[in-house]
Amino acid sequence: MKLQVLSSKSVLDRRAAEVVGAVVKSKPDAVLAFPTGDTPKGMYRELAVLHRQGLDFSRVDVFNLDEYARIDPAGSLSYATYMRGYFYDLVNVPAERRHIFNPNARDLTRECARYDRAIALAGGFDLAVLGVGRNGHVAFNEPGDMLTLASHVETLSPETVKVNYAGAMREARESASDVPDLDGYPSQALTVGLGPILAARSILVLVSGASKADVLKAMFSGAITTRLPASLLQLHPDCTVLADRQAAAGPP
Ligand code: GLP
Repeated sequence: MKLQVLSSKSVLDRRAAEVVGAVVKSKPDAVLAFPTGDTPKGMYRELAVLHRQGLDFSRVDVFNLDEYARIDPAGSLSYATYMRGYFYDLVNVPAERRHIFNPNARDLTRECARYDRAIALAGGFDLAVLGVGRNGHVAFNEPGDMLTLASHVETLSPETVKVNYAGAMREARESASDVPDLDGYPSQALTVGLGPILAARSILVLVSGASKADVLKAMFSGAITTRLPASLLQLHPDCTVLADRQAAAGPP
């Protein structure tokens, strides 16, 4: 696992978009796994810039890494809404090539199996772009005694719910939309498992800000543990971590 430290978040955003752009240029029908969260918003903005300069997304497949369970896919909390707002509305990924879990499938376990089949049918991920939670989660694979290879329904840790709730509150203030109370905030999600992620031909991890300094350090500690799912990325032969100076500077 290689670490690249970038001088600022905007430099990181551009670098991440360049990496994705290079993959798409060399393989126009690339299969991409994309994250949500605050960190990748700048990468999506820069990808839209590259698109305006001619980068073509018409043949790529994009798989979202996760989605909350039992939420309105058109509502403000859903990752489907996030992807439309931050990426799909700005580029030319055809609707049938945008993949995301159906949060309201009758049987969520079957929905996860369907998603894994779709990933396999597409040929697996050429590039998985990942964010990392402060507790080391990857997609929504939370720390635990055991991790799961296949896509599955995950119960989120109270810490993750709290962090994501705070993020949604910030966003709601900007867009004047409603967010349920912390008690009503989704605590279950569908997530791609570590299997398809670690089977990706290459992995790009985005880590930004002082709040991620501890987890970044732990990811490079040399220890591998299910208590820090991101530590497993050390096993991957082609994994690059892009970190900004604040994340790489050590705890605040
Ligand atoms: C969320 C998402 C992850 C994301 C992570 C980090 O819980 N499910 O896919 O990578 O948190 O988010 P952020 O970039 O906002 O710190």
